[in-house]
Parts: sequence; structure tokens; C-alpha cells
Amino acid sequence: MKGSLTELRLAAGAMAILAGATSLMVIVPWLLTDKAHPVGTGLKPYTLQELRGRQQYIANGCVYCHSQQPRDPGLGPDVARGWGRPSVALDYYYDSPHLLGTMRTGPDLMNIGARQPSRDWQLGHLYQPRAYVDGSIMPAYPFLFRLKRPEEVAPDDVVLNLPPAFAPGASKVVATPEALDLVAYLLALDRTYPVVPRPAPAASAAESQAAAGGAR
Ligand code: HEC
Repeated sequence: MKGSLTELRLAAGAMAILAGATSLMVIVPWLLTDKAHPVGTGLKPYTLQELRGRQQYIANGCVYCHSQQPRDPGLGPDVARGWGRPSVALDYYYDSPHLLGTMRTGPDLMNIGARQPSRDWQLGHLYQPRAYVDGSIMPAYPFLFRLKRPEEVAPDDVVLNLPPAFAPGASKVVATPEALDLVAYLLALDRTYPVVPRPAPAASAAESQAAAGGAR
């Protein structure tokens, strides 16, 4: 009799801990996340080409050096650096898996499509970052390009316009479909549309209290 009471207590305690952990780690964050929806914001779903480019971004390890999460001015100078307004949950609506990143060896790329919208620059910079940014420590990605003799260049080939010092002799540098996909993805990274500002901390505290009250 005494033994079964102990087991009951043990089971009830375990369930209470599980319920507490679930509400702390799942329910509370869900309540605090903006319930925004991209309708009317200008955020578009990725095209097939942009999604292929996203796979290249993952495969080539861009996420190891680049974040996609400008911070609030209270947490760092990201806005002053020109990386864009602080990101909100809505910005990641179409991102699966998200590519927030944790390292910032290079700049944040959340809005690179708005900051540097030139396809030529993006392609050339991937082929050889040092051709555009003196002393850049970003790795070059020459394997995303092919060298062709001028007479081999097809009419629909995208030929790079490199600064003469970095052009490989008489050969032409032609972008592979992978490079074009990756740059299409980079150019799609533009979350410059306005978002509804967050309520002031006092108001939002009262609101979440009301929400918690309503859920009880
Ligand atoms: C080892 C770290 C590293 C990796 C990996 C890396 N980058 Fe970079 N990236 C940098 C650094 C450092 C800079 C700043 C210097 C420069 O512009 O070249 C930079 C700059 C950039 C810029 C210009 C940003 C701006 O604001 O002007 C773009 C675009 C970019 N990287 C894209 C990529 C992509 C796409 C990949 C993957 C194919 C990649 N990077 C991989 C370090 C990295």
C-alpha cells in the first residue's frame, strides 16, 4: 500500500516536471513569438532556383561565417553597420531549415540582396573575393565556375567581368548553374519591408499576462 503511494507520487512528480519543462521550452516561447504572417509585407516564397541556391549556401558552408539575424540596437550596432532592421519571426517564414548562423567572420547577409543587388559583383566576389575587397579573408569558390576559351563561350553563358588583374589570361570565366543559383538566392535576401513595431515592454508584459490568464 505504502509502496504504491510512493510510485504514484513518483509518477505524478515526473509528469509535473515534464509539464513544467514543456511549458517553459515550448508553450511560453510560442506565446512570446510574434504571430505575424507574411501577407502584404513583400516577403515572397523562394523560387525553385533560389531554393537550389539555398542548398548551395548550405553545402558550401557559407553559414559558418555569415549570420542572417541583424540584432536590436540595444544588443549591438548591426543597424548602424547597415545590415538592416532587427529581424522578426516573420522574416523566417519560408526558411526551413533556418540559417541564422552563430559566427560572424563575415557580415550578416539577411539583406545582402538589397545592399549589393549586382549579380556581376556577387558572381565575381564568389570567384575571387580579393578582386573586390582588398585583403578579404573569405575563401574563393573557383570550382563554381568554368574556364573557357573565347571561342568555346556559348551565347547563353554568363561570362564574368573581372577586374583585369584577376582575369585568367585569355580564358573566359563562365558561371556554372550552381553559381547562378547561389547568387539568385543571395539577391533574394531582402527583408527591408517595414514590420509593425513591437509594443513597449510594459504593454507587452501586460499583454502576455492577459494571454496567460486567458489560457488558464
Ligand atoms: C571563412 C569565412 C567565410 C566563408 C566560409 C564565407 N564567407 Fe563570405 N565573407 C567573409 C568575410 C570575412 C567577408 C568580408 C570581406 C569581403 O567582402 O570579402 C565576406 C563577405 C561576403 C559578402 C559581401 C557582404 C557585404 O556586406 O558586402 C557576401 C555576399 C558573401 N560573403 C557571401 C558568401 C557566400 C555566398 C559564401 C558561401 C559560398 C561565403 N560568403 C562564405 C567570410 C566568409
